[in-house]
Amino acid sequence: MFIINFKNYDNISGSKSLKLAKIATKISRKYKIKIAVCPPQNVLSEVTKTSIPVFAQHVDTAKAGSTTGYIVPELVRKSGASGSLINHSEHRISSKEIKELVSRLKRLNMISVICVRNVDEARRYSKLNPNYIAIEPPELIGTGKAVSKEKPEIITKSVKAVKEAKNSTRLLCGAGIISGDDVSRALELGARGILVASGIVKARNWERAIDEFALSFKNRKV
Ligand code: G3P
Repeated sequence: MFIINFKNYDNISGSKSLKLAKIATKISRKYKIKIAVCPPQNVLSEVTKTSIPVFAQHVDTAKAGSTTGYIVPELVRKSGASGSLINHSEHRISSKEIKELVSRLKRLNMISVICVRNVDEARRYSKLNPNYIAIEPPELIGTGKAVSKEKPEIITKSVKAVKEAKNSTRLLCGAGIISGDDVSRALELGARGILVASGIVKARNWERAIDEFALSFKNRKV
């Protein structure tokens, strides 16, 4: 799995999100690998017009109905999204909320990706059996210094922690990944995929950047 978090970068504002999602769709088909995109909430419905899996960047625990300004999983589902990031480093929530959201997304048949900052959190939250745990050391996010090269041990230790939960949860890693080589290293260390933002969104040539990342997946057949 290769997830591109668009964040709220100006590079993907308005119709540019759909453009990036279309390029990701093309590359996903070319190499037959799973790519999912996380556009900002305001363009979520528009991006679901592509055939690529679309995840929300965040969802709230607020109920469907008489609530205002929250991102409600049931409505996100109806917009055509098939999953969500939970507890991203830039949008942390309580463990109670994390637990509730994982079960709620399961009931809705949606993919849950819990983002964690360290091995202890990876161990703790993999017990909830989300589809994915994404380990991202916050200090490397957006730096261009890849977790797979700067902190390889955090990946190997998290892989072990997730395995200990003895369920179907898989480990992704992210932070600072900017090249195919960074991706290959992450996969060699046991990650089952990556979560990336600036390495793609801020690249001068989106197609070339996604192609380079995808090729590393293709070569590893993950
Ligand atoms: O959600 C992905 C993320 O936080 C990593 O960001 O820019 O380091 O790829 P970046």
